[in-house]
Amino acid sequence: MKAFYITTAIDYANGSPHLGHAYEKVLTDVIARFRRQMGDQVHFLTGTDEHGQKVQASARKRGIPPQQFCDEVSAEFRALLPKLAITNDDFIRTTEERHKRVVRQILQDLFDRGDIYKAEYQGFYSTRQEQFLQEKDRNPDGTWPEIFGEVTAITEANYFFRLKKYQGWLVEFLQQNERFVFPKYRQTQVLEFLKEPLNDLCISRPRERLEWGIPLPFDEGYVTYVWFDALVNYYSAVVDRPGIWPATYHVIGKDILVPPHAVYWPIMLKAAGIPLPEGIIAHGWWLQRGSKMSKSTGNALNPLDLVEQFGADAFRYFLIREMNVGQDSDFTPEQFLVRYNSELANNLGNLVNRTLNMTTRFSGGVIPPAGEAAEPERELQELWAKTAPECVALCEGFQFHAALERTMAFVTATNAYIERRAPWKLGKSAAPADQVLLRTSLATMAEALRLAVALLQHVIPGAAAKINGVLGYSPGGVWREELAWGARLSGNKVAEALVLFPRPAAPAKP
Ligand code: MSP
Repeated sequence: MKAFYITTAIDYANGSPHLGHAYEKVLTDVIARFRRQMGDQVHFLTGTDEHGQKVQASARKRGIPPQQFCDEVSAEFRALLPKLAITNDDFIRTTEERHKRVVRQILQDLFDRGDIYKAEYQGFYSTRQEQFLQEKDRNPDGTWPEIFGEVTAITEANYFFRLKKYQGWLVEFLQQNERFVFPKYRQTQVLEFLKEPLNDLCISRPRERLEWGIPLPFDEGYVTYVWFDALVNYYSAVVDRPGIWPATYHVIGKDILVPPHAVYWPIMLKAAGIPLPEGIIAHGWWLQRGSKMSKSTGNALNPLDLVEQFGADAFRYFLIREMNVGQDSDFTPEQFLVRYNSELANNLGNLVNRTLNMTTRFSGGVIPPAGEAAEPERELQELWAKTAPECVALCEGFQFHAALERTMAFVTATNAYIERRAPWKLGKSAAPADQVLLRTSLATMAEALRLAVALLQHVIPGAAAKINGVLGYSPGGVWREELAWGARLSGNKVAEALVLFPRPAAPAKP
């Protein structure tokens, strides 16, 4: 079986991880967990991007060798993963030999095929963006846009990759593969970009200017341009593992879609005769007061602060519930608290507490069998019969925020069902009909909770496992079968209580 191979972008090892980096890992993990549930053989890769100007400059600033600097920063990114409950199968560093070997092979191969050539370059260079600039990149008043930092005029011999030669092929490929980029409107942007003629890509940097990179196999006087090196990680990590390449999805932020992932990468693969990935998922940005969260702006939130305060489940839940994949979202501590309190603590937490508490009080802690379903039960079951397939379809289409909204609406409906049945009243009555209703209501709320958890587990895996645990339940191997309303919990002994989402001591740190 071909693996479902999913990757995140590899983070620049030039500073600490922030909330934007954490989001990408969480989103990719949610997709990975969901696909595993659906029966796919998932391979999930993440890692760090360690060469290039930015890393070299950051290491110099710290006064330590770049490798030592990368070791530290990469370890920090790696340590974040278990704290966010990320289930990656591998972690690649571009300074590893397994990666460098493949980059050199591909470069040599493209050089031998004539797709890499040497030429004199005369023009402008932005050190901050590690990019050659053209006249068209200037502001209308002739100055250079802020994002380029200091721009210098240079003349130097360099190696170029024949992008232009493949432009027509790429346009045709994108027209034939309309779903290559998700969301679709981003694919349109790629095609817009390709309306202008492409320039060949400069893929070398003279060693005098940049030492920290992979030397070109055919000219040791140069190192490889960082993007040409970094993109190859997706392939180098799995080249020795049969059945994984091509990637199913590369999950990346919208800032690195055009041109690196949607133009350079497909053309590099095409030129090297390597099969293309099936698709790219480009997510939006986490903003703070309207501007992109980033290290350089100084408005970055440390994800670990939130995880320590609220737990990994609440953190994951918020990011996935709040963000519509592809669009931007503003992070505010207020909104975090609202969702934490109303959706997790009050809605889900309340259903858990009521189920445990009432089963303990009225049924000796054992989930009873349900009697015949009457109207309130039927209504809830009908809502479930709609909710489950809708949520599966939404998750298949990466609409996780909408799936969570519907799942939570089902939890709300279950709480409303409990109000309507009022087991605490039924428990006071000795009438046999009321006793049957009481058992039915206890069985119904427990089953509804089990089902909601099955739809939530890829987002809040820790809480889901705990809830299943207090219900005395271990889910079976086939997830889709778990979504059928039934009587799987009948006879289970439940725990008396579970504190899942305690009220925080203080509001979320801004
Ligand atoms: N090293 C390159 C990627 C190479 S992939 C072969 C890079 N690194 S990065 O550290 O700058 O960004 C890593 C990922 O985090 C990117 O996908 C980027 O879009 C994402 N994010 C960085 N800031 C972000 C937000 N504020 N919000 C959401 N994600 C953003 O680019």
